[in-house]
This record gives sequence, C-alpha cells and structure tokens, in this order.
Amino acid sequence: MMEPCTFIVFGATGNLSRNKLLPAMYHLEEANRIPDGSAIIGFSRQAFSDESWQEQLTGILQNKARGGIKPEVMSRLSARLHMFNGDMTDVASLRELKQFIEARPELPRNLIFYMAIPPAQYTRVSQALADAGLAREEQGWRRLVIEKPFGFDIESARALDENLHRHFREAQIFRIDHYLGKAMVQNVLVFRFANLMLEPLWNRNYIDHVQITHSETQGIAGRAAFYDNVGAMRDMIQSHLLQMLTLVAMEPPPNLDAESLRDEKVKVLKSIRPIAKRAVNAHAFRAQYAAGAVNDKSVAGYVTESGIAPHSTTETYAALKLYIDNWRWRNVPFYLRTGKRMAQNSSVISIRFKHPPQQLFRKTPIEQIKPNWIILGIQPQECMRIELQVKQPGLELLTHTTSLDASYCSHSDYQLDAYEALLLDAIENDRSLFLRYDEIELAWQIIDPIIKVWDTDRDFIHTYPSGSWGPDEVNKLFDREDHYWRNSIAHE
Ligand code: BG6
Repeated sequence: MMEPCTFIVFGATGNLSRNKLLPAMYHLEEANRIPDGSAIIGFSRQAFSDESWQEQLTGILQNKARGGIKPEVMSRLSARLHMFNGDMTDVASLRELKQFIEARPELPRNLIFYMAIPPAQYTRVSQALADAGLAREEQGWRRLVIEKPFGFDIESARALDENLHRHFREAQIFRIDHYLGKAMVQNVLVFRFANLMLEPLWNRNYIDHVQITHSETQGIAGRAAFYDNVGAMRDMIQSHLLQMLTLVAMEPPPNLDAESLRDEKVKVLKSIRPIAKRAVNAHAFRAQYAAGAVNDKSVAGYVTESGIAPHSTTETYAALKLYIDNWRWRNVPFYLRTGKRMAQNSSVISIRFKHPPQQLFRKTPIEQIKPNWIILGIQPQECMRIELQVKQPGLELLTHTTSLDASYCSHSDYQLDAYEALLLDAIENDRSLFLRYDEIELAWQIIDPIIKVWDTDRDFIHTYPSGSWGPDEVNKLFDREDHYWRNSIAHE
C-alpha cells in the first residue's frame, strides 16, 4: 500500500540533491508514482522561499528531465515542494521543523529523512532528530535514508551503526548503495535465476574467472577533500564492486524478500577468503593517475589537482583478486578493478568460461579455440551477451567469435536512473535494494587488511597516464598467463 509521506531532504541545495534526488522525484512524478498528498521539504542552511526554490528547480531539471521539462509535471512537483531554512545539527531548528509540519494538516505525518549531507554529520543529525522528537513513530512512521560511505573503516562503520541505532530501529534505516538501483545490476539476478540453462554452468566446473570493472574518464571532479582521504578501494570496491560480486556469486534465495536476498549476499561475503596483511601485494594493486589525455583533451595528474597534497599517495585506481571459499566458487578468481581518468566510462561484468576438455581442433588451422565469455554491460551500454565460436564461411576450418545479444543491448538516453527505483522503494518500504549492516561490516572486513597496509605504506605509488587502462604492473594479480583484462564489451 502506497501511503503518502513527507520527504525531508537534508542538504536540499547540495550536489546529490540537484543531480540525483530532484531529477528522480521529477521522473517519479511524471510516472505518477508519488503517492497522492505526499510532500517534499527541502531543508537547507541557505534561505530560499518556496517560490525562488521552485524557480531554481527549473534550472536544475533543464538538462536532466528526459525528453525535456513537461509543464504539467513541473507544476504537480512544484505544488509538493516546500523549503525550510535551518541548521540540521541544531535541535532548536529541528523542533521548528516539527512545528512547521504539525501546523500544516496537509503534510503527511509519515516522514522520510534523506541525508544528502556529508557522512560525518549522520550521527549528529540523527541525534538532533531524536532530541527534537522527530524519531518517534506515534503519529506515523519515520525512515532514515543514508548514503555510502558508511564509515571509513570497520571501526568507524561500527560506531556509526551503534549511533544510528540509539534512535532508529534497523527497520527504519535505509542504506543506499546506488548500484543496486541500476537496472542492469538487478538484471544480473534475473539473468541468473530466470534462465535455467545457465545454472548448471554457473560454478567452478565451467567458469574460469570473473572480472568486474568500473572505469571512469572523469577525475576527482572537485571532490579533492573527500577523495584524498578515501581513495578508490574505499570509494568503489568496498561498496559497489563487492555488491556486484555478491549478485554474481550468490546462491538462489528462497524468495525475493529483502531478508532472504540479503542473507544470501551475506553468505558470499562471509565465504570470501581473508587476505592476510603479508599477502596484500599478491591480491591488491593501487595506482594514481598522472597527466595525460582523455578524449583528446589534456588533463592534469592527480597530485596537481587543486586541493590535493603534492606528495599524496592516495590511489585513484585499485584492483583486487578475491576467492570465494564455497562449493560453487572455490579457486575461481574474481578480479575487481576500478579507476578514475581511464580510457572509457564503463562498468562491466565479464565472465570467462574454461576451455573444452579436449582440444579437438589442435591439428587444424584453428589450433586453439577461444573460450566463451558472458558479458554483462552495466553502463553506459546496457548489454547481455554470450560469446560463442562458430566456423567461418569457406573451405578452411577457421573460427570466429560471434555473440548472442539480448535484444535491448543499447545505449539509450532514456535509461532509468538508479535513484528513481531507490526513492520509490524507500517510500514503499521495500528494503531489498538497501544494505543491511552485516553486509557493510563484512565488506569492510574484506578490505581492512589492504587499507591498513596501504595507509601505512605511503612512500610509493605506481602511476598511469590519464586516458589509459591503468598500469601494466597490475597484471601480476592474474593467476594464469592467459588471463588479461577485458577492456571492451565488443568481440576481441
Ligand atoms: C560514487 C563514488 O559512489 O559512485 C564516485 O563516490 C563514483 O567516486 C560514483 O564516481 C560512480 O557512480 P556512477 O553511477 O556514476 O557509476
């Protein structure tokens, strides 16, 4: 049942709100998915009247509304929007917010607090909400939505969780990993569990290794202060890439309930072979972008970006080899890598199969058959492709690679944004695409030895030219000589 709610956005004028939340609200409005009577309160330190904020909204949505802004959608959305000026860490301000809501009978009493604010403030704001009486559920439910990063390491993640749980029950906390809202990430589950023919092959007997790559052409995009303390391992691998790995590797859940799904993901994370500190170099690799050219444009190296210390050794590229010690995956390497200022924007899961047991074609011109791959393109190209070998036309016995492509393999301007799905789920109380705390703790546990070693070992870091696929030295992670990074979703 879709109950109306008041959606309170802390940090309403910030980047997350402008780039993701407001456009997602607009698209949900367009799809008539916001429950009737619901309202949105933008909470901000800056003083805006409802009218001036509504004007700004047009500017914000200008390039983000798919197919252009539709006046009737805009006027419906604007009618829901209110601005509230205050300090979210100050109990007095939040008491005023409570009075503001109570004085307006048209505002629903079910409240969602969306923390589009720096994570360092989560604890203070949740405390202030509780002190102002806004966490109590006597007059409607209360939900708290927070974004990654959940902590900086295992200890701080635990502390954050304890602090949130002082005032909110687990069922009230929605932890966003926006990758789970991406259509193709959800499609990994459909692909695996709606197609029976894959299941017999989806294990160590047939799969040689799995690669999960996320590459970006952009640099740190004005986030120096955040990024220089965090680096690629914490920023991308601890969260998004490990989440994708769980979906590729998990067992079929008994049903699609949030808890059943998350139980299966947790089992995968628990089965990941721990990396001892002395083995960090054999399992993990880091590097930093140097000057170079991206899309034919010269760009500066990381250490000369504004706000970055000249001797910073923060990694902008990280790669990791993991093993999952269970019956399905034992000894199958999972290679994860991510980087900024790389050659392309691309998120892809590539699964390589083993060679057939007998090399039947050894004495023919084919000699060595190429292995099969399954390619799941997450973005920008959404794609599901199975690569096969077929005979080339003609008298010789020669092969070439062809593929079975799912029909919607496309690069569409009309892709849904992950936030549309996630905001709707928060409104509908569907928690399956949100993280449970044990997933977060286990993900920190996996990378903890690596970040501890890297944090103390600050003398040297490999570099790679901006616009490249990263340094060759990373290849030392491969288990076998014939392993290599799949950089393209096209046939090779
Ligand atoms: C964020 C990271 O969580 O994900 C960013 O903090 C990264 O550094 C971003 O750029 C990537 O998300 P997307 O949806 O653009 O692939």
